[in-house]
Amino acid sequence: MKRLFLLMIIAIGIAACTSQKPNTGTVTQTPINATTSVNENLAQGKVVFENNCGKCHGLPALEKYDDEKWKSIVDWMAPKAKLTSQQADLVYLYVSTSN
Ligand code: HEC
Repeated sequence: MKRLFLLMIIAIGIAACTSQKPNTGTVTQTPINATTSVNENLAQGKVVFENNCGKCHGLPALEKYDDEKWKSIVDWMAPKAKLTSQQADLVYLYVSTSN
């Protein structure tokens, strides 16, 4: 009986460990909405920007363009980087907030 009890404790312990998925660092497709905090969207925008906008040229300097100019640049570059419209919005949020 004591051994069975121990086995159960071990089984529960293993289940608890394996249910915690490791953070793979991939960008999740969280929709932009009220339940997603601005900081979260900004952080995601930064990741999308850094992963996609430095492939063909270096990462552009954020302070080089104003918000208006960034809007047209993101509209122009998003198809090149094959971003979804949601990713493009996140990138625009990031670059326009950080310059
Ligand atoms: C598939 C390649 C490619 C990807 C991916 C790409 N770009 Fe570009 N980008 C270019 C090329 C080519 C030019 C130069 C265009 C020209 O001058 O005619 C350019 C130019 C630029 C410029 C300079 C614009 C100017 O007015 O001089 C900025 C800023 C820029 N890209 C931002 C971005 C951002 C932000 C992203 C990510 C969303 C991105 N790029 C992704 C190819 C790419």
